[in-house]
Amino acid sequence: MNILFFGDIVGRPGRRGVIKLLPELKREYAPDLVIANSENLAHGKGITTSTVSELRDVGMSVLTGGNHSFAKSEGFAVLDDPSFKVIRPVNISMPLPAECMVPAPRVPGRGFLSVTVGAYELLIVSLIGRVFFHDQYDDPFRAIDALLKDEGPLDFAPSKFLGTSRGKRPAVFVDFHAEATSEKVAMGHYLDGRVAAVVGTHTHVPTADARILPKGTAYISDVGMCGLKESVIGVDTEPILNKFLTNMPVEHTIAEHGEVVVRAVAVEIDGATGKAKRIEQILRETEV
Ligand SMILES: [Fe+2]
Ligand SMILES: [Fe+2]
Repeated sequence: MNILFFGDIVGRPGRRGVIKLLPELKREYAPDLVIANSENLAHGKGITTSTVSELRDVGMSVLTGGNHSFAKSEGFAVLDDPSFKVIRPVNISMPLPAECMVPAPRVPGRGFLSVTVGAYELLIVSLIGRVFFHDQYDDPFRAIDALLKDEGPLDFAPSKFLGTSRGKRPAVFVDFHAEATSEKVAMGHYLDGRVAAVVGTHTHVPTADARILPKGTAYISDVGMCGLKESVIGVDTEPILNKFLTNMPVEHTIAEHGEVVVRAVAVEIDGATGKAKRIEQILRETEV
């Protein structure tokens, strides 16, 4: 199965750039499934019904998340609506084991979902790192272990949650949303041979290390963003420079038009083995 995955789509120019280039990328890469990271969709932070609908209408099948997934409260309902297929990091806060018997507050949405691609099933997981984040997320290594072993607490195990049967494991595609390349590279090796792909997001800057790891997992530390080229990772340069120069709080702005970079990867997965055959980095630019 061929997967096309777009890195963090930042605001309106990012959405416009992806929508503009999607037809030609579909012709070139013939994807069976298009996935994108959604955490910056709505004016750089969070998601809304209209921004998610825009991408769904052009054929984006699944949207993954990150540290900004909850930035707009309107997005909570989107995350909870299965028709949207938008997920947030699974380890934002993991459910407690049943034996704890403590009623933990529920986090909106889901951290993974499975889709049928031809004769095969693909489990898409949104995972977030811990290094350099202010929030105290649960351990992503333990979280993905629980998920892959299918024996996590409460609703955490895919077989209980999605009805996938044990022994018929789907191929697994992981968006690892993390700041530190060390944590990402470590996760790549940790999951090598156990999942089809580990693609990094969050830094908005693409890395030049796309490859198939020794045991068959497609890997890249960061896919990069889809957003304004002349910016600071998608946000207008001037307010960000002011922030660095003065330490005063600033309001982020994002220009409506301009040159846009579109960063993605094409991953070919063998549905029968759940391993990757190929990963290709896509670095495009356009005007919106
Ligand atoms: Fe981002
Ligand atoms: Fe992020």
